[in-house]
Amino acid sequence: MDKFRPLVRQTDLDVNDLICPIFVDETIKEPVEIRSMPGYYNIPPDMVADEVDCISDLGIPAIILFGVPHDKDETGTHAYGDDDVIQKAVRSIKGQSKKEIIVITDLCLCEYTSHGHCGMVDFDTQEILNDPTLEILGKTAVSHARAGADIVAPSGMMDGMVRAIRKALDDNGFPNTPIMSYAAKYSSGFYGPFRDAAKSGFSFGDRASYQMDPGNSDEAMREVELDIDEGADIIMVKPAMPYLDIIYRVKKGYKMPTAAYQVSGEYSMIKAAAQNGWLDEKKVMYESLISIKRAGADMILTYFAKDMAKMLNE
Ligand code: PBG
Repeated sequence: MDKFRPLVRQTDLDVNDLICPIFVDETIKEPVEIRSMPGYYNIPPDMVADEVDCISDLGIPAIILFGVPHDKDETGTHAYGDDDVIQKAVRSIKGQSKKEIIVITDLCLCEYTSHGHCGMVDFDTQEILNDPTLEILGKTAVSHARAGADIVAPSGMMDGMVRAIRKALDDNGFPNTPIMSYAAKYSSGFYGPFRDAAKSGFSFGDRASYQMDPGNSDEAMREVELDIDEGADIIMVKPAMPYLDIIYRVKKGYKMPTAAYQVSGEYSMIKAAAQNGWLDEKKVMYESLISIKRAGADMILTYFAKDMAKMLNE
């Protein structure tokens, strides 16, 4: 009977669905394994192009870059300099890699601010300053595009960020650079290991004032609608597995190109269980990704991208 399975299977996973995250770290000289993400490494800027070639050789069509700068300050200055970590990394990939790989840049300030928040902060009230942040995000988007980024991906959940970034890109000669918006981003415990990788834990408070309550799903629809109105080209739901219902609703409701982010904690819990011999890693990796696809995601950002591609290529 097994020969009938492929014929009647409704959902397939393809290498073309995968987007591979890369942490580019200006503070290191050799790849360093991330403590809470077994098998995943921070990469120094001058080794990133080779890593991208390996990813590309597996047939993975896109990467997303996160930066770890040598210096962090209150306003995230090193997010937007032409010689800062992401801009350098993008230029070296575009200059060195022969391939057509799509370079997406994560666009947020939390990796660049000393307090670890995604926006400017009023230290008297400990409030996030939404509108002053928009200007910096616009500037950062333009610096990424100038370096050669193919898509920018704002992840900070500031109100009006997509519109501000669209305008900044259009006004500076990048009307064709698409925006992948982290539109429905939950205030999630599953981001824990990412903060080890990006060295971006926050010094006070949490991100609940700008990330969404896990109990809400109508709010996700409103967030997505706003981002579409403001000009987002691709909509993202994040995390993925605990929010399959959101992926389903967003895809059904808006029929937009829809991305899902299987985040660091989703990766780490599978890895940890597998290391203990409690789960079959390959089986669970595949099952987790196909479930995200089945829910409606067109593309998946995942730390399993390389492993999954290898398995699909076999
Ligand atoms: C930055 C950003 C985060 C992630 C992606 N972009 C961290 C956060 O919002 O706390 C998390 C990704 C992951 O956990 O893999 N705003």
